[in-house]
Amino acid sequence: MFQTLLHRFVTVAGIFYLMAIHSLLAVAGPSNSLLDISADGRLLACSNRDSGTVTVVDPTTFTKLREIPVGHKPEGVTFLGNSHQLAVAIYADDNVAFVDADKGEVLGRCEVFDEPYSVVSTRDGSRVWVTLEYPGHLIEIDTKSRKILRTFNAGSFPRGLALSNDQHTAFVTEYYTATVRLIELASGKEIAAVPASSTDNLARQITVHPTLPKAYVPHQRSKITAAHGEGSIFPYISVIDLPTADGPLKDDLKRKRIPMDSFIGNLVTASPWETAISPDGQQAVIVFGATDDLFVMEVRDDNYRELTPIRHMNIGHNPRAVKYSNDGKWFWLYNALDFELVAYDAKTLQRAGLVRVTENPLGDEILRGKRLFYSALMPMASRRWIACSSCHPDSDPDGRTWQNPEGLRNTPPLVGLAWTHPQHWSADRDETQDFEHTIRGLLMQGRGLINGPVAESLGSPNKGRSRDLDALAAYTNSHTVPLSPHAKNGLSDAAKRGREIFFSKETACATCHSGPYFTDSNPSTKPVLHDVNTGRSDPSEKMPLKYDTPTLLGIYRSAPYLHDGSAKTLKDVLTTNNAGDKHGKSSHLAANQIDDLTEFLKALPYEDPQPAAVAAGLRKVDR
Ligand code: HEC
Ligand code: HEC
Repeated sequence: MFQTLLHRFVTVAGIFYLMAIHSLLAVAGPSNSLLDISADGRLLACSNRDSGTVTVVDPTTFTKLREIPVGHKPEGVTFLGNSHQLAVAIYADDNVAFVDADKGEVLGRCEVFDEPYSVVSTRDGSRVWVTLEYPGHLIEIDTKSRKILRTFNAGSFPRGLALSNDQHTAFVTEYYTATVRLIELASGKEIAAVPASSTDNLARQITVHPTLPKAYVPHQRSKITAAHGEGSIFPYISVIDLPTADGPLKDDLKRKRIPMDSFIGNLVTASPWETAISPDGQQAVIVFGATDDLFVMEVRDDNYRELTPIRHMNIGHNPRAVKYSNDGKWFWLYNALDFELVAYDAKTLQRAGLVRVTENPLGDEILRGKRLFYSALMPMASRRWIACSSCHPDSDPDGRTWQNPEGLRNTPPLVGLAWTHPQHWSADRDETQDFEHTIRGLLMQGRGLINGPVAESLGSPNKGRSRDLDALAAYTNSHTVPLSPHAKNGLSDAAKRGREIFFSKETACATCHSGPYFTDSNPSTKPVLHDVNTGRSDPSEKMPLKYDTPTLLGIYRSAPYLHDGSAKTLKDVLTTNNAGDKHGKSSHLAANQIDDLTEFLKALPYEDPQPAAVAAGLRKVDR
């Protein structure tokens, strides 16, 4: 009897042991980052979004070796296997560039549909996996032929990407929901989705632990019911239990949110950007893009606290990336708005070296404005939770509709802003300097940038009263509109038919959505507002029910639509949200004509609007 029990015990223990080994194999793998270190530890590479370059550094001597132009807005970067070749996601040019880091040459490119964000390499370097934020794909590229082998659906706006150690599974995070999807790489099937809270937002990265079946996702929460300095935006790391080899799948995957604003006393941080785990799995670092600081943490395997703070450190402007050296002795930080890499000793936490990776490509004024836009510190915010970039990251929307005091307001993208003033859905701000009211108001509770009282939003100018405020306006107005990926090969036949419908007398779309920016709202003429019967469904609306005509450029990626976010799709704008034909005439259109019109809207812009705007004598706002 006793022997049988003992035998059983040993067998069970053996199974657990095997499972443990198996689970070791099942997890750790590469994670996406804006920084990578070669397998031999001799090269470090970072992508410089503003400069359009990749910089290669010798991490042992802290020297910059070379800077390589790669294209517009590079994001994720990875070394291929054990080599000194790199793959870089060129976000704005829609390709993945392959670079020889020793020679500083671009070897070739793989064109992708749109917005490559993360790129990770398989261990042998034969493949890279890439997330395409739009239209929501995970793609496999053969690094020899530089051709796309397979394309899988990966949810909506996928950004973060990591591979399991056995390279059988990809972990992908959705930017606007922080949902984590597990995708089986052999079949492309989604084997599990780990949903987040409806408030979780801006999840750019996922890191897997080297030995434990856990993943870490830095992200924020956007609590839309409270547009208020203390209750709107919160920083987190979500810890996700990954399946072990035999282990629970689907519903059993747990996630736990660790708040990063009460981690050390009442110290608040904002805009968690990337996390790194040391190679021995004992230590972790998270960087905060808006409070310019980081936490060093001890990793616990207790399914309870998970992470305990060791140290808080103030670092440089807008840190966006962190990576440990392969031996775990150092960690490297990328301070994006200082254009610097800084190395810290992982034990003593002393600064060990600094490398300037690129020269400021923005000019002094835009850089100053961009630093302010990304800052949750004084004079921008007194409570440290919120920066402009918390809701307008890199000029994109946050995918949210906020309950503002004046009613429900969907966050618009800031692209093309310089040509589409006045601002806000209700056109209640005529210059970007009026956002001094946002800084000083309940939302951010900052000291503000103007010395003395601020003029009313539609009153006398706030422009010219503060160099910093003018710089903030200059940066905010600097975003151009990317061309639609739906019109790369010109307009499709459906889009051409849709164009006829759009410009027809009957629908009258172009009477308000006029000119190169598809709006009658521009800084050259007096503001015109229109009641298109969209303001009556929100009982909290406090403003007159007339709205500023929004630009239609780039709306293929900015759902939901209308000021209150009440239309989930473009089709809804034209059908369910236009019951009485008060917003153009659309009721006479057959279903296939609505589809054609939608195809046309998705193809905007199919050409650069700026030359046509200049030719038409339109004026733009510089600051
Ligand atoms: C809590 C989220 C949040 C924060 C923080 C925030 N915004 Fe906004 N922003 C919004 C929303 C929502 C709207 C739409 C509001 C409206 O139209 O009334 C908006 C609209 C705008 C617009 C108008 C765009 C257009 O096309 O009309 C600009 C410009 C802008 N914000 C700049 C800023 C600046 C500068 C800051 C920092 C000082 C900032 N925002 C902070 C959410 C935010
Ligand atoms: C009388 C002026 C006017 C006409 C005509 C008009 N629009 Fe609009 N459009 C607006 C206004 C104003 C809004 C913003 C309404 C709101 O947010 O509640 C808008 C919003 C939109 C949006 C949502 C954009 C976004 O970013 O949320 C789309 C899409 C759109 N219009 C397409 C069309 C099409 C297609 C037609 C023709 C069938 C049309 N519009 C006719 C004035 C007009």
